[in-house]
Amino acid sequence: MGKKRVLSGIQPTGSLHLGNYLGAIKHWVEGQDDKENFICIVDLHAITVYQDPEALRQSARRTAALLIACGIDPQRTTLFVQSHVRAHAEACWLLTCVTPLGWLERMTQFKDKSGKQETVGAGLLTYPVLQAADILLYDPDEVPVGEDQKQHVELTRDIAQRFNSLYGETFKLPEPVIPKVAARVMGLDDPTQKMSKSATGSGHAVGLDEDDAQIVKTFKRSVTDSGREIVFSDKPEKAGVKNLLEIYRAITGKSQADVLADFADARGYGDLKTRVAEVVVEALAPIRGRSRELLEDPAELDRLMAVGADRASKHAEAKLALIKERMGF
Ligand code: AMP
Ligand code: TRP
Repeated sequence: MGKKRVLSGIQPTGSLHLGNYLGAIKHWVEGQDDKENFICIVDLHAITVYQDPEALRQSARRTAALLIACGIDPQRTTLFVQSHVRAHAEACWLLTCVTPLGWLERMTQFKDKSGKQETVGAGLLTYPVLQAADILLYDPDEVPVGEDQKQHVELTRDIAQRFNSLYGETFKLPEPVIPKVAARVMGLDDPTQKMSKSATGSGHAVGLDEDDAQIVKTFKRSVTDSGREIVFSDKPEKAGVKNLLEIYRAITGKSQADVLADFADARGYGDLKTRVAEVVVEALAPIRGRSRELLEDPAELDRLMAVGADRASKHAEAKLALIKERMGF
């Protein structure tokens, strides 16, 4: 049996943070040898809200540099920028025409985001069709995503099925895969909220390119509770401590029991925060260093992105040709 094919997408806007690293990127890196990996930096998705053009251009580069610095190897993984592969936008139109409006209006992310805006761009509604195009152009077996994106992968399956029944068997149905460890790294300022790119305010997230001192500061200020028990507990008041322990566990790869043993001699939450910050700093410092080096050589970064786009295009163009042929073009 051949290797399973995996495709995932990541937004280039906002800063990549510890939640992205532990919940997604680390799993992609670990799967590079056993799976055939495709990672798409989804800059076309980013423009569903206005983006400053120069900032957008930089953000795709910055995201690519950070992903490579995290261990995504452009030789083993097809890492590419969505807008570099024309087939995505074209397939999006073709799939839009087989997608009932009601399916899109039901999407939770659309309802959340459109409710918060005065004028809603049509792109916000068709966003999941572009995501379906990203996926279906590559016939992946698995699509690793966070819990919040599961609905979009299910919609992708529905679109694929509808297309298959209208035009004949064309698409394989992909499975959404949700990671088990560190599926939800919580905000350090508020352990009831998932750490996210869009949340503003310092103290919430740990950026992958932040300085050591800033990282330590964010951990020292993190919200815990008024007790002193260092335990993995699902009690609401222990959410802060649990989040710190889960971060430590995900980074060190230790079992819960070994993690607790490491903290058996800790004197209160001050010690806990310092030691968690230490392992995070140790893990992120080399990533920051490598990404800065890569960003200092934009020509090399552009070359790597061109290699990725070229490899991705070969798959995507062949699939697009089949879709068009099936539809009568
Ligand atoms: P996003 O930041 O929403 O573009 O997500 C990119 C990837 O990182 C997705 O696979 C998410 O599920 C994952 N991710 C984002 N935030 C977190 C978090 N706080 N904890 C774990 N995984 C996350
Ligand atoms: N919508 C996804 C997110 O916000 C990003 C994404 C775009 C994606 N295309 C994809 C994820 C294809 C998986 C597969 O996180």
